[in-house]
Amino acid sequence: MSDVQSATGSTAAIKLEWNAGLMQGAQVQESAKKIGDLENLFRDRDAWAGIDPAQEVYRVRWWAPVPAGSEGGLFWGVTVLQPGKVGNEFFMTQGHIHANQTRAEFYTTVSGKGLLLQMDRERNTLAEQMTTGSLHYIHGQNAHRVVNVGDSPLIFWACWGSDAGYDYATIRERGFSAIIIEQDASPMIVHRS
Ligand code: F6R
Ligand code: ZN
Repeated sequence: MSDVQSATGSTAAIKLEWNAGLMQGAQVQESAKKIGDLENLFRDRDAWAGIDPAQEVYRVRWWAPVPAGSEGGLFWGVTVLQPGKVGNEFFMTQGHIHANQTRAEFYTTVSGKGLLLQMDRERNTLAEQMTTGSLHYIHGQNAHRVVNVGDSPLIFWACWGSDAGYDYATIRERGFSAIIIEQDASPMIVHRS
């Protein structure tokens, strides 16, 4: 036991509630995105302006056992993305590219129904179905965004590099080359430039 006690490591006690998308522990961080935080994300600006700005769209809880930017470490987190639409466009995450584009990421879904959009540097977009038990590998150079196309919260867990970082600006400026809208009660991909 003495070897274990003297090893480099974290003594943080983190407890997961997989299906609820909860993480508990003193080191758990949390951030929520509400409609009011997501101006210019959705296509229909009038519909966005008509929704209560306090309405939550998604919440992320994560554990950073090492400081952000540390080479070779890992972060662990969960996102709970609410069901809903702005106009006919489904609720989604902002989406980002990792600032360090050699850093990949895993997502796995525990509940809900969604689409994971990955967009490469040439703006080709791939949509993968997210359902209970689906596991997704996100290439380091791909922008990634999740869309909730169901009527219950979409809960997915993620593991990514502590030195991956976030580039939100690229997506904020040009968006994705595909958006997901509801048409005839089904999700539909609309391609854009
Ligand atoms: C981390 C990651 C996820 C997202 C989360 C929220 O690299 O991909 O933890 O950060 O799903 O999405 P964004 O960050 O795009 O608002
Ligand atoms: Zn990411």
